[in-house]
Amino acid sequence: MKILVTGGTGYIGSHTVVELINKGYECIILDNLYNSSEKVLDRIKMITDIRPKFYKVDIRDKETLEEVFKENKIDAVIHFAGLKAVGESVAKPLEYYENNITGSINLYELMLKYNVKNLVFSSSATVYGDSFKSPLKEEYGRGNTTNPYGASKAINEMIIEDIGVANKDFSAILLRYFNPVGAHESGLIGERPNGIPNNLVPYISDVVVGKLDHLNVFGDDYDTRDGTGVRDYIHVVDLAKAHVLAIEYALKHEGVNTINVGSGNGYSVLEVIKAYEKACGKPIPYRVTPRRPGDIATCFADTNKASELLGFNTKLNIEDMCKDAYNFICKNPDGIE
Ligand code: NAD
Ligand code: WQD
Repeated sequence: MKILVTGGTGYIGSHTVVELINKGYECIILDNLYNSSEKVLDRIKMITDIRPKFYKVDIRDKETLEEVFKENKIDAVIHFAGLKAVGESVAKPLEYYENNITGSINLYELMLKYNVKNLVFSSSATVYGDSFKSPLKEEYGRGNTTNPYGASKAINEMIIEDIGVANKDFSAILLRYFNPVGAHESGLIGERPNGIPNNLVPYISDVVVGKLDHLNVFGDDYDTRDGTGVRDYIHVVDLAKAHVLAIEYALKHEGVNTINVGSGNGYSVLEVIKAYEKACGKPIPYRVTPRRPGDIATCFADTNKASELLGFNTKLNIEDMCKDAYNFICKNPDGIE
């Protein structure tokens, strides 16, 4: 069984490739290396003993993308490739729409042309916007997205649903990720964003290894148990395993399904700091600052559909997430270069 993984050298993609290989799937990775390194392929080999076939291709370049479909008999696609920085998307909307929508349309067109009818797509809890109260259920649909990144995910969901209407034998799972964190327990793959991290756990990691002086806690006056923002953090290895279950479901069933992937538990910023302090054995300096514009108080998943449809339940907790994030940053303070 051959699975094309777009964005497969990236953070979530690389962990998913490892889990797919562990289950005996053959992976073909496609990535333009905009936000990842080819060295990830060596790291995957160190973990699994297999170096997946790799194409340095940009999904916006349809001609080159078609070569991948011509050269390989692909059974299913897991589509991670895209840009993902919320703030940057506000400054560069056209870049985001071109990458995440035009690029994705190229991919979907080629899937239909080459009769590849199984897809798993990386969506995001961001499509709920600020419209609904947690626990967020898939049946709520899509809310008001507040930035081009979120809009690009909502539009992709709509495009895939419409492909499903027009092609009855098409099968897709739209996975709405909550907050993926942590790293592979080997410390060989993980996430260290370029520049100053925007997200909480990578920011804490940089503070812990002394690259940054302290963490800014964005607001302690939310209506939550300690006043700081509550999110549903999920270990990236659990998330990767959800992709294996999703692709197996897509291979057996027709139709388009949307599924949340979270733990169903919310942790506050102060609780994450405490868990990370326990993992690294030292205090994490922080200062409370005003709220970050656009943030909401609480966001966590209803996980019943993932459990019922895919048999997916998370196994790793917030302490595992922090332990593995710490292990990765200690071994790769400058990321995988
Ligand atoms: P990542 O940046 O580590 O991985 C994305 C990969 O796609 C990168 O390796 C990048 O080089 C590649 N890429 C980008 N544009 C491309 C293009 N035009 N052609 C080919 N390759 C391209 O990000 P990630 O955290 O692994 O996220 C994977 C997917 O999951 C993304 O679609 C992201 O929007 C989505 N997602 C991520 C999160 C999160 O918090 N990390 C949450 C929800 C959804
Ligand atoms: C978590 C909590 C912050 C940084 C984002 C995207 C979302 C999805 C996942 C892709 C919040 C607080 C953060 C810091 C802090 N990505 N915080 N100090 O905003 O929930 O989600 O990543 O789809 O679309 O919006 O994640 O990690 O940035 O924030 O206090 O330096 O930590 O206010 O409460 P978020 P995050």
